[in-house]
Amino acid sequence: MKIFIDSADVKELQTLAQTGLVDGVTTNPSLVAKAGGNIFDGLRAICAAIPGPVSAEVVAADYETMLAEGRKLRTVASNIAVKVPLTPDGLRACATLSKEGHPVNVTLCFSAVQALLAAKAGATFISPFLGRLDDGGQDGMELVREIRAIYDNYGFKTQVLAASIRTTLHVRDAALAGADCATIPPAIFKALYKHHLTDAGLESFGKDWRATGQSIL
Ligand code: E4P
Repeated sequence: MKIFIDSADVKELQTLAQTGLVDGVTTNPSLVAKAGGNIFDGLRAICAAIPGPVSAEVVAADYETMLAEGRKLRTVASNIAVKVPLTPDGLRACATLSKEGHPVNVTLCFSAVQALLAAKAGATFISPFLGRLDDGGQDGMELVREIRAIYDNYGFKTQVLAASIRTTLHVRDAALAGADCATIPPAIFKALYKHHLTDAGLESFGKDWRATGQSIL
């Protein structure tokens, strides 16, 4: 499963890129607002730090303006993926941009039939928001499983990008459900490394090693 980071914080992303584990980034208007600064400067820096797809979202609601915004966002760097919302205009823009060769991430997906439409519109990525479904008392991971089954039934190439991840268990379950990618907030990404038995094991190995009085270097 590819690991994307869900953030527009340039410094944070530059640091996380050093792990060598980050395959891409997703941003959205709220994340850009939270990070502050100019959207184009931020995207340029993120695209330079992380060679994988960096999703940049259009903010228009109508087809023509979405197309113009998507094409402009794509001039920032070759690894930009245009993010469009799952609306009739958004999917129409997805189809046009995809035909022009632009990678498109269809966002704000909350049902399997929406995901079916996005695949038919040629989306490169579909982003089911599982955390927001969970927040509302639905089973977000079930949506990821349904989309996986539908895409596999028909051989759709659209990648399932599990989004709105809230916990490390979401990451595990998205991988078990066969998501192609998961976009993970920085704090959850860092938590993936953690296990108390790793810490305890390291401490006891260190103690025993120090008692030998030896040095490897
Ligand atoms: C995905 O591309 C979105 O940016 C993101 O996952 C939304 O997550 P949230 O529900 O935590 O805002």
